[in-house]
Amino acid sequence: VKLALSTWKEVEAYLARSKGIVVPLGSTEQHGPNGLIGTDALCATAVAEGLAERAGALVAPGIAVGAAQFNLGFAGTISARATTLIALIEDYVHSLARHGFERIYFMNGHGGNVAPAKAAFQDLYSEYSLGRAQGRVRLRIRNWWDLPNVDRLRRELFGDAEGMHATPSEVAITQALFPGAVGEAPREPARKLTPEFLRDHAGDNHYDAATHRHEFPDGRVGSHPMLANAQLGARLLESAIADAVADYKSFLEEK
Ligand code: NI
Repeated sequence: VKLALSTWKEVEAYLARSKGIVVPLGSTEQHGPNGLIGTDALCATAVAEGLAERAGALVAPGIAVGAAQFNLGFAGTISARATTLIALIEDYVHSLARHGFERIYFMNGHGGNVAPAKAAFQDLYSEYSLGRAQGRVRLRIRNWWDLPNVDRLRRELFGDAEGMHATPSEVAITQALFPGAVGEAPREPARKLTPEFLRDHAGDNHYDAATHRHEFPDGRVGSHPMLANAQLGARLLESAIADAVADYKSFLEEK
């Protein structure tokens, strides 16, 4: 059920049976030579909506712009400052908590959002810890690609060619969602990432946009999106949704 397509009376009735809500969290940034700018928001929304439908949960309007300053060297990217994203997540949580929502589940599609989201969570909890607010809110952020079965599947399908950004798995999901929207990918694999690069830049902790474009001129970061196709995308999406339903249910049941 979508919050945007509900009335306030329906939301009140929903709250009488569930205190949980799902929020898609994405990014609007380049995804390599053939990937869609909206990839991260589109994937997060598809997983979140699939989860909400199967779990009978409410899904809030997604946050489609994330912390992606390192991609501003590529046309079309829109980035929120980490502080903006932190403030927006806090405003979502305060608003939802005001109505009685207690378990707020962020389904994330962009690695660069994780650090700001976790910082926002700690600041929100500190308001309870310091006695400035009363509340029982619990928050979880989950990257769809880290869920156990979809993580196994993408490694099986793509191995090292999954890379770090403009991955074949996220490109495949957009191919399944929007047939015909994704064009041809380059035939040559992207430059392999070194263990040092992976260590220093995990979680999309990249340097500035000019450095990033210089290092990854076509926007791929260690990935080979040519391996993507719509059939694999449908399998990955199904796996992510099934995993997300289980993860969301465990979050609701957590003591
Ligand atoms: Ni992405």
